[in-house]
Amino acid sequence: MSLDHMYIRQYENTCPPRTGCADVIEEGPLSIKPVFQSEDSSFGAEVFGVDWSKPIPDTIVAQLVALQDKYGVLIFRKTGLNNARHIAFSQKLGDKLEINPFFYGRENDRLGEPLLFDVANIELDGSLVKLNSRRYHHSLGNALWHTDSSYHQQRSKYSILLSHGSPVEGGSWTHFADMRRAYSDLSQAKKDQIEDLVIEHDLWHSRKLASPAVFGNPLPHELAAKPPAFHRLVQVAPDGRKTLYLAAHAKRVLGMDLEKSQKLIWELIGHCTQSKVHCPIPPCRWALLTGLSWKYVFSMEWLSGGDMVWWDNRQSMHRANPYTEDMTARDVRRSTILDDGPLASGATSEEQAAAEKAGVN
Ligand SMILES: [Fe+2]
Repeated sequence: MSLDHMYIRQYENTCPPRTGCADVIEEGPLSIKPVFQSEDSSFGAEVFGVDWSKPIPDTIVAQLVALQDKYGVLIFRKTGLNNARHIAFSQKLGDKLEINPFFYGRENDRLGEPLLFDVANIELDGSLVKLNSRRYHHSLGNALWHTDSSYHQQRSKYSILLSHGSPVEGGSWTHFADMRRAYSDLSQAKKDQIEDLVIEHDLWHSRKLASPAVFGNPLPHELAAKPPAFHRLVQVAPDGRKTLYLAAHAKRVLGMDLEKSQKLIWELIGHCTQSKVHCPIPPCRWALLTGLSWKYVFSMEWLSGGDMVWWDNRQSMHRANPYTEDMTARDVRRSTILDDGPLASGATSEEQAAAEKAGVN
């Protein structure tokens, strides 16, 4: 397993870029600055020109969804959205939003809104999360590479993470990996090996990986709130390309024992988040000289309050940096849009039984 979640880091490719300027593509009222752009594969883009002060017209929503299908991660700056408008925009992107299963009433929730997930490092009383609290240890799982809600049998399609206030002024990062391009670069032998695999996803597996001392034995109400789910490993992305549906929540390959399952799962996660070149000289210099490093991965920098990132969980993975003792308040709130497409419900019970029976040990 990767120990990425233990470290504050940023990857070689960043948004905005650390050196030079991104190309700008004009599309009607929108300006698009891609992070990775090539003829056959693009990933990540900053989008400018949306008027967030008003309800977003259906024509712009359709244009944004087309961009989302192409880039997988869209970044907007200084939107000025509040909770209600964050939710209203999210509701234009799918039939249903995910209800926060850890919402125990408005008086017990900092946001008081069951359609938003509070992923800030702020407690109900306004104090910062204590490093040894259960909330802190739970957050460590977010620093592992994952896709949101893969542990639900009806998985999520999109996540939209919005920064509030003005406490974030650079130096805070969220990282993304392109699962379509990573899949396409696998060897044909590996593609053949994994084509029909079904994976058990379990939230408490990733929590245990990230914080075994605290989440080695989750509490009964936690286990009841989040039973495991089953999804095919190889899926089809909205643009028609094959993609990998993976996450730190991925526990076991059906028909395979746990140890071998974890070896294969982390081999694939490692592939998707790898540096593409062996660096004979220090990595930063090598990346600047060749532009080849971290082919699938980039780090998005939070620059201002109101910054918002919208990603597609069906074709990307992401991770946060872990909270630290000297971190200032980071007030970020997430809406999650349920998948309403043909693969939304995951592997059927017949597919699960067939995968168990096939046995791939
Ligand atoms: Fe997440």
